[in-house]
Amino acid sequence: MAPAESKLLLTDRAISSSNHVPSNYIRPVGDRPNLLDVESSTSIPLIDLHGLLGPARSDVIKEIGSACRTDGFFMVKNHGIPEEVVREMLRVAREFFHLPEAERLKCYSDDPSRTTRLSTSFNVRTEKVSNWRDFLRLHCYPLEDFIREWPCNPPDFKQVVGEYSKHARALAVRLLEGISESLGLERDHMVKAMGKQAQHMAINYYPPCPQPELTYGLPGHKDPNAITVLLPDSVSGLQVLRSQKWVAVEPVPNALIINMGDQIQASNMDMNSLHQTFVPFCNESNTNKAFLSVFPQVLSNDRYKSVLHRVIVNNKSERISVPTFYCPSPDAVIEPAEALVDDDHPLGYRSFTYGEYYEKISNEKEVMP
Ligand code: OGA
Ligand code: NI
Repeated sequence: MAPAESKLLLTDRAISSSNHVPSNYIRPVGDRPNLLDVESSTSIPLIDLHGLLGPARSDVIKEIGSACRTDGFFMVKNHGIPEEVVREMLRVAREFFHLPEAERLKCYSDDPSRTTRLSTSFNVRTEKVSNWRDFLRLHCYPLEDFIREWPCNPPDFKQVVGEYSKHARALAVRLLEGISESLGLERDHMVKAMGKQAQHMAINYYPPCPQPELTYGLPGHKDPNAITVLLPDSVSGLQVLRSQKWVAVEPVPNALIINMGDQIQASNMDMNSLHQTFVPFCNESNTNKAFLSVFPQVLSNDRYKSVLHRVIVNNKSERISVPTFYCPSPDAVIEPAEALVDDDHPLGYRSFTYGEYYEKISNEKEVMP
């Protein structure tokens, strides 16, 4: 646990300092967000999941497939998480970050292996420039293994966040089923491939920033997991890369934002982009082949992508977002599905565990620790 007098978190510093971003948050000139050079005329698709339960299921599945292929990001409405549960989740998140610093610091740790921890920026152990974000990171599945270690303050934190995380898991599973079907696979294929499965949550807190043109809330990154369900508040900030342009994703009331992580990654990339995503495994390989991800059946269909996204901050409002990262369990073995290996598609990748992938990528790249 951190000593209470140290100023490890951004929140209080940001609130107390007025006009300037401290120098360790300032990006080099070529790596700053150009706040004006952003597409706001288009956005990502919005899919109504209501039809998933009835005769229109196959139409919704097609929409999901198409959004995964073309954008890697989409929004969903009628997603099944009650409005009250969502509202409460955001309330308790805000209350947590408004607690006195000494109270919040009880949860502080910069050790990414801790299953419950409050930290700041992105990956404080590897990054050179800090980011304008504090975050609380929680493991959520199986819930009973972790809920005891969650914060006790606000007093209803465990109950409210536990409730939200159960709903978020149910939604992630429904989406993975839809994604499996959209690829012509058995409905439970993806979920089964994730072994015992795991679910992590981040509660991101971006304080107002006096010079948002100099820094990021989160720099461009891809999520290393399988699928992310993001609950945004009403303040904009998320941008996704499409055709080399940053597209602003404006929050839509009652909609959640979904994106594919590295584990649902396309394979029809050239070797360079493949290397960018899977550098650690490529370096290790003596061949010219990268080691790919958990859902090679997806890969072989050459379709779905894990897309670069980032968060910019603003000088007016704090912003809160709550991503749920749904992932394979650390011991899940990642290897091509047998059915996909034939004379035309010979086995090209050694198998590895998700834990191994995650460990390497956290040490070597700017990814969510
Ligand atoms: C993340 C992320 C987006 C947001 O936490 O990985 O991309 O809007 N968050 O906060
Ligand atoms: Ni992300």
